[in-house]
Order: sequence, then structure tokens, then C-alpha cells
Amino acid sequence: MSNNTAKMIVAIDGPSASGKSTVSREAAKNLKIMYVDSGALYRGMTWKAVREGVDVKDAEAVIGLMNETNWDFFIEDLVLKFTIDDEDPTDHLRSEPVRERVADIAVIPEVRVFMVDRLRETADFGDLVMEGRDIGSVVFPDATFKYYLDADPEERARRRHKELLATEGKGDVEQVMSSLKRRDTIDSTRKTAPLQIPLGAKVINTTGMTIEEVVDQIVDEVDAYRTRV
Ligand code: CDP
Repeated sequence: MSNNTAKMIVAIDGPSASGKSTVSREAAKNLKIMYVDSGALYRGMTWKAVREGVDVKDAEAVIGLMNETNWDFFIEDLVLKFTIDDEDPTDHLRSEPVRERVADIAVIPEVRVFMVDRLRETADFGDLVMEGRDIGSVVFPDATFKYYLDADPEERARRRHKELLATEGKGDVEQVMSSLKRRDTIDSTRKTAPLQIPLGAKVINTTGMTIEEVVDQIVDEVDAYRTRV
């Protein structure tokens, strides 16, 4: 494990479409520190499995595939990026086959150990904002700041639906809602590192809030701390 005791870590956890991704990215930009989307690593592994025709419910096959995968991490414009076997997976990470299978990959304990190690190593690059499901609870339990963003299920389905319309030009609200619910259930009931409010995390319900309001709250708190230390 890397030595990250001197680093400022802002951990942002929460369920899908809680506003986490946009808020984390914007907050990192405002604070001029690195942004890490931990879900991208789980999605990357899922992409590789889908491409190789490996059943994501076959843990042994997924672990075998993971062990022969070559990951390279680097920073671009203060955002953590990676290649998988020398390919940039970015364009595939939010595709439908990945979206529908990622939660099944993320229940595999060996996959989680591997990803948690990689995520901890990113602190070697410097101060960071990291978003995910287990950042304040497992990856960085001693994070300087811990937030848990949430929103009502209807609001989350509306937001994800809007995103899908923008990226794919189609999407059915009912289907989005049931897909979110399915992923929520798998994420919060899994044995290893289930989605939970990390000890000491500040909960922000973003339902009636704009992205800017949430970002401002986080940036103000972190900035106030930075001027004190
Ligand atoms: O954008 P959205 O919140 O829907 O998804 P994401 O953050 O990219 O995460 C996709 C999936 O990866 C989640 O549903 C979890 O199953 C898994 N994940 C996880 O288990 N732990 C993390 N730290 C991040 C993601």
C-alpha cells in the first residue's frame, strides 16, 4: 500500500445518479487537484470481460482474465486515466453491456482487492477527489473529507434518463428506474464493501439542489481547511 498520510483526500460516495460524478469532477477542478472516478476501473474490467466473451458471473474466469490484463495509469489535465492492454477504454465504459454487468463484476472480492490497491496507489500522484461506493469506508477510511451524496430514487432516475437521452438519443424512464434499482440492490447487499454511508461522512441530499450548490458547499469546506493547515 502506498504512503498517502500527507495527502489531502476528498472521498465522495453515493448511489448511481446521486450527482456524484459531476460534483466530484467540478469540485476537483475548482480545487485544482486530481479527480479519480473509481467506477471507471470496475467498468474497465467489465469492458474487457464483455469483449473477451467472459461470463461476468463466472468469478474464476473473471479473475483469470484480470490477472492477465495490463493496466497503465497516468494523469491528463488532472484527471486519472488508464489504458487496458494499451487501449483507451473511455468510449466503451458507459455502454449498455458494461452498464448492465458492472455491478456483477464489482461483487467479486478478488476484483475489489485488486481495484482498491490500484486506487490507493493513485494518491502517490498527489491530493485528490475520488468518487465511488466504498471510498470513505474502505479505500481511504482516513480521508481528510468524506461526503455521501444521495437523492430521491425518482430524481435519480430522471437525471440518468436525461443523461441517456443526451448520450444515446433514447431511453425509457421506467427501464432506467428498474436498472438503477437492480444495481442499487446488488451494490448495497453485496458481502464485500457494500454501498453504505462511511463512518464520519457528511450526507448531502442533492434532490432539491443544483450541481453548483453542492460543488460550492464542498469546495468552501475544503478551502477553509486548506487555509487553516
Ligand atoms: O455513474 P454510476 O454511479 O452509475 O456508476 P459508477 O460510479 O461508474 O459505478 C459503476 C458500478 O461499479 C457500481 O454500480 C458498482 O457496482 C461498482 N463500483 C464499486 O463497486 N465500487 C466503487 N468504488 C465504484 C464503483
